[in-house]
Amino acid sequence: MLELSHTTKTHDESRQGEALELVPTGKSDGRKLYIESYGCQMNFSDSEIVASILIDKGFETTKDYKEADVVFINTCSIRENAEQRVRKRLKEFEAAKSKNPGMIVGVLGCMAERLKAKFLEEEKLVDVVVGPDAYRDLPNLIDKVDDGNKAVNVLLSREETYADISPVRLNTNGVSAFISIMRGCDNMCSFCVVPFTRGRERSRDADSIVKEAKELFNAGYKEVTLLGQNVDSYKYTSPVAESELPKPTINFAHLLALVAEVSPELRIRFSTSHPKDITDEVLHTMARYDNICKYIHLPVQSGNSRVLDLMNRTYDREWYMERVDAIRRIIPECGISTDVITGFCTETEEEHKETLSMMEYVKYDFAYMFAYSERPGTLAAKRYADDIPEEIKKRRLTEVVDLQRAHSLYRVEKFVGKVHRVLIEGLSKRSDQDFCGRNDQNTMVVFPVDARYKVGDYVNVIGESCTSATLIGRIVD
Ligand code: SAH
Ligand code: SF4
Ligand code: F3S
Repeated sequence: MLELSHTTKTHDESRQGEALELVPTGKSDGRKLYIESYGCQMNFSDSEIVASILIDKGFETTKDYKEADVVFINTCSIRENAEQRVRKRLKEFEAAKSKNPGMIVGVLGCMAERLKAKFLEEEKLVDVVVGPDAYRDLPNLIDKVDDGNKAVNVLLSREETYADISPVRLNTNGVSAFISIMRGCDNMCSFCVVPFTRGRERSRDADSIVKEAKELFNAGYKEVTLLGQNVDSYKYTSPVAESELPKPTINFAHLLALVAEVSPELRIRFSTSHPKDITDEVLHTMARYDNICKYIHLPVQSGNSRVLDLMNRTYDREWYMERVDAIRRIIPECGISTDVITGFCTETEEEHKETLSMMEYVKYDFAYMFAYSERPGTLAAKRYADDIPEEIKKRRLTEVVDLQRAHSLYRVEKFVGKVHRVLIEGLSKRSDQDFCGRNDQNTMVVFPVDARYKVGDYVNVIGESCTSATLIGRIVD
């Protein structure tokens, strides 16, 4: 969950040629906006765009929904429990709205896109429903609500990338930021709702990405994470006038290099890689630049080829293992994490064991693990029965979680006794006597505060002990 922090200064520094847009209308001056985000990093990044759009219209932000004029909840539909969490939260907003009937409640994001106008019938307190490609229309939609109407815009777009909008960095540590490089997804994995809620895949103008990275670096940021559902299929060709020669197409490897060139002091991360699309060219680019972190999130979903086929992942067990071998060959020190789904339609016990054996093969540094949750409208919901009983899904999930815990420990233990370059992200949650930050492989490192260093500095830390999630150490010069 994320709350809006108070306005930062970076939001409109780079905007040009939109004077009319930039002049607040006056109507919303000083109105208070509260926004809460659920789901993936993409949603958190979108909330920063929403904030930017409304701050340009005169809104101020608040961290307390009870005092807000407009309360937005940016929602996720990926699993049923993600949606339940949102509905529960809406109930909590009800009490605030009954005290302040003028309060506008809006649902944004993937659940808005999935349920569309139905949301207005199902949840009476909701005034406005806005899908992920319609955020530019928010000021207009809020006007409609001000005039006493309910408002909906869930149009998906083939072009919208919000490339020209500089996000207002929310809840920022001033060190790490997300940059959205593409939107939507064309993959149609059979279990997944994202292609329906986020629409067709489109890549953002490469120049605008590099510009955003430069602005962040100049504002003191030291780490950017390039975001997309499938970053390896990033592809952008600049439009040219008829008289000009065509510009070369920029793929993800080129984009990584362009962003890495911004400064050797700016760390680059990215998510998510798709096993079918990650190329050796990307791996070689990672190996070539010290400032591209040696860490890849490579969701496997299942270790069994028949299940992968039913999932429409378009790779099989052998292909995935070959991609892992390529990573180990080209970037030996690379951290690898994954996503796993247990109990997908018709998954047998033997097939589940192949997921466990895949985990043994890779020994992931980290994993996000889920029991399959059928989503209405997806290919799997249409084609296959959700036939694995809940208790079996859960038992398989527990086996996966237990094994992963052992593997995480195995990986972190290997970091003990070695020196790591760590970017200081802040104070440790447990103690203000300790700094925390991550090493290249994305493992959290905790070490005593040293007055010579501050948040945003790089330090060398030697690992001295660990838990399965954290490396504990001290700064060495
Ligand atoms: N684009 C990314 C993943 C986005 S969704 C990719 O292709 O890997 C994040 C993760 O949620 C997925 O990797 C998957 O493991 C999980 N997930 C998606 N749909 C799900 C469902 N219906 N039930 C359970 N887990 C699901
Ligand atoms: Fe969903 Fe598959 Fe697209 Fe990832 S690649 S967002 S899992 S459809
Ligand atoms: Fe959820 Fe939408 Fe992201 S469904 S995981 S918020 S793309």
